[in-house]
Amino acid sequence: MSAQDKSVIDIVQGGPPPSANFGVLSPSAKQRLSEQLGPEGALLAPEDLQSYAYDGTFLEHRPDIVVLPRTTAEVQTILALATEEHVPVVTRGAGSGLAGGSVPLSGGIVLATTRMDAILELDDVNMLVRVQPGVVTADLHAAALARGLYYPPDPASQRQSTIGGNVAMCAGGPHGLKYGVTKDYVLGLEAVTADGRLMRTGGKMIKNVTGYNLTQLLVGSEGTLAVITEIIIRLIPKPRSTRTAMAVFPRIDDASRMITIILNAGVVPATIEIMDQDSIRCVEEWQHAGLPVDAEAILLIELDGEPSAVDVELRDVERLCSERGATEVRLAANAEESATLWAARRAVSASMARIRPTKLGEDISVPRSAIPEALTAIRAIAAKYGLLIPVYGHISDGNLHPNILFDRHDPEEVERVNKAAGEIFDVAVGLGGTLTGEHGIGSLKKEYLALALDPVELAMMRQIKDAFDPLGILNPGKVFPARPA
Ligand code: LAC
Ligand code: ZN
Repeated sequence: MSAQDKSVIDIVQGGPPPSANFGVLSPSAKQRLSEQLGPEGALLAPEDLQSYAYDGTFLEHRPDIVVLPRTTAEVQTILALATEEHVPVVTRGAGSGLAGGSVPLSGGIVLATTRMDAILELDDVNMLVRVQPGVVTADLHAAALARGLYYPPDPASQRQSTIGGNVAMCAGGPHGLKYGVTKDYVLGLEAVTADGRLMRTGGKMIKNVTGYNLTQLLVGSEGTLAVITEIIIRLIPKPRSTRTAMAVFPRIDDASRMITIILNAGVVPATIEIMDQDSIRCVEEWQHAGLPVDAEAILLIELDGEPSAVDVELRDVERLCSERGATEVRLAANAEESATLWAARRAVSASMARIRPTKLGEDISVPRSAIPEALTAIRAIAAKYGLLIPVYGHISDGNLHPNILFDRHDPEEVERVNKAAGEIFDVAVGLGGTLTGEHGIGSLKKEYLALALDPVELAMMRQIKDAFDPLGILNPGKVFPARPA
């Protein structure tokens, strides 16, 4: 598949629905679920079903029932029943995903893990936690910090998103540069298979090469292989100090080159994030964090570690940025100032939803060396199609979020959006990158999968899916492109 031979795909519709013929949950199955899970564990009222029809995108479809189990045994019962009746199961945490991954496009059962929210064990000696999937990510951060420990992955949605959702999508975040992403912290899982069997993978040990790494296979599998019911997560010691700096660049090109310059100087910040001018304006209008709205770009840089080392590194970063075009490098004077800047950064995605009725938030990932070229190409695509496409993101990882802002009820604009999104994927893949760095494929990118994957790799992935889920009931119609008719 290449840019030339593919026709424009309707990304905005989330691709075609799954073709398999699923069953419809029988009244007796609904009654069994209601009896077993209680009135708060099985929702059937139309307004409740509507509440679970969405994720963080604009896609929407109502499930036939929402179940909110509290225990692994209840998850087993639900899946055994779904297998018996050949009904789809779409697992979700808080539903903050940005790829349409947890929208129940085929109806069926939505299995929400939000009531499985216990921190089951915090083991200081082994520096790990064992949690149920519904623990909110920010609560995990707080529980670790209270014991002098640290869970670095920091998706922008951390105050809403659940750790189970983070694991299912392999969520990233700004800290990826120094600390990696969700997968780098998952040591073991408990999961329930499509037919209701219990499976345990990995464990509390750090090193483990016994057999295939099914733990990491399930990380990022987007609810298509099994339902994760327990997670063992590695923690690290809390950094001794943290400082934040904002570097202001009149030219985005200069900003985009800083990551390599800083790393080559031997400084590894915890994070370096970029916002272009449109992103700065979107968020500043809403959050009033004091961001410079006339700059073409800013970099937000966090350094952590031993305080004296952080001071030296901050001075190095300040000097390097000033030498390479920054007009100002502002240091956050205290924790509050730093928190204001990071709160603004986390609000960028939401702030864009205020500008136009619809937001298609992309998530391309390219080699670091290709960042300047990728940014230039995205700006050219925005101009070509007359679209507003603010770009921000985890520049230190080469992971950029071009957000296409439009109105999905305007067919002519939607056509331009589909073309622009396709061209952005072409740019990412053409530069040796890929479709998504952290948001996942879900519904919105699945028809482009073949552009980014080797055909044999894609065939192997389909075989793995079939091995785990022979009936295809787990999150159907997600990740994989529809097969040619
Ligand atoms: C962010 C999310 C959208 O980085 O990935 O803001
Ligand atoms: Zn991001």
